[in-house]
Amino acid sequence: MKNILVTGGMGFIGSHTVIALIEAGFNVIILDNLCNSEITTLKQIEKISGHYPEFYFANLMHKASIEAVFMQQEIHGVIHFAALKAVGESVDKPLSYYQNNLVGTLNLCQVMQEFNVFNLVFSSSATVYGDKNPIPYKEDMPLSATSPYGQSKVMIEQMLQDLHLSEPRWNISLLRYFNPIGAHSSGLLGENPKGIPNNLMPYIAQVATGQRQALGIFGNDYNTPDGTGIRDYIHVMDLANGHLKALAQLASQNSANQTNRNKTSVEAYNLGAGHGYSVLEVVKAFENATGVHIPFKKLARRAGDIAAFYADTHKANKVLDWQVERGLTQMCSDTWRWQLNLSKRANS
Ligand code: NAD
Ligand code: WQD
Repeated sequence: MKNILVTGGMGFIGSHTVIALIEAGFNVIILDNLCNSEITTLKQIEKISGHYPEFYFANLMHKASIEAVFMQQEIHGVIHFAALKAVGESVDKPLSYYQNNLVGTLNLCQVMQEFNVFNLVFSSSATVYGDKNPIPYKEDMPLSATSPYGQSKVMIEQMLQDLHLSEPRWNISLLRYFNPIGAHSSGLLGENPKGIPNNLMPYIAQVATGQRQALGIFGNDYNTPDGTGIRDYIHVMDLANGHLKALAQLASQNSANQTNRNKTSVEAYNLGAGHGYSVLEVVKAFENATGVHIPFKKLARRAGDIAAFYADTHKANKVLDWQVERGLTQMCSDTWRWQLNLSKRANS
């Protein structure tokens, strides 16, 4: 499996995974409509990896654009990141989220099937565990959703299960990411949210540069040791490596399938660190890693948040032979290096 199509490869997780793929010797083809990313990311990828990946400016809503890529390229497998991902926005614009995430995936799978490409790694999310499961979350727990965004992931997972039942050549990994943060250690690639950041680490980083006055902490009365919410933060490069491991697993199942049928599958894997940190612990870690003080104020709970969740990662550790290598300090220092570069660019 050498030629990999990466949908959404210009985005936060996609671009870091593209670096990991290039460094591992894959030939990467990116498809993205840049609705939440910048064309300049291609240059950054080239600076880091020494390789300018092939790029198609295309929208998954247009099936013919996807077909054009498959006609021009011999694709062996697909990593499908492209989606809209803001939970709050999905509550306000459910139709946009269902359309983009569901129809985009439908179109992609139809084209893959037309071209006999059956290897797929799908970006799912810890949000598919809903708000009723006990922690840590395990892959075989029942799925549910608390937002249209989350529901789109639950529905796509179900659709991919049905697809494999209908055609056993489909070989699919459902990667359930927990809370990806951090940036490439070069400081050349990272997360650059448009507008006011929704997520904790990008908000802290903008407080650190002075772009925002203070972090608002959503709730300090949760049933957690310090009262603030606990999440399982994972460095984006560890997450990127999880995709390489998932591709390797799909490839080994394909070879096993040639001698012994029924080896292909749809399997879900949790990609997280396997433990959590509270909001206050993340603030402290950022201050210690960077030497920058982060002022904060306590606010009411954010609607839809739950007190605490983290992953059971035994399955990914064992079956994919994957573990995280980077801790919270590195997540903070890499974020800071990237944020400083972003500010320099904005001011020059
Ligand atoms: P991102 O927004 O940075 O990247 C998504 C990319 O997909 C963007 O470059 C965007 O332009 C592109 N895209 C969106 N719709 C498209 C379409 N119709 N056609 C072509 N390109 C399109 O998001 P990310 O944080 O890198 O997330 C990647 C994937 O991981 C998403 O599926 C997301 O739901 C999932 N995920 C993200 C997180 C997180 O916290 N970042 C957590 C769990 C799961
Ligand atoms: C982390 C903690 C907040 C911002 C979201 C999606 C989830 C997944 C990952 C895609 C919580 C607190 C945050 C702030 C705060 N994405 N916080 N002040 O909500 O765990 O997960 O991103 O699949 O689906 O819901 O991440 O970074 O927003 O919040 O106090 O300004 O930080 O309350 O406890 P979350 P987050």
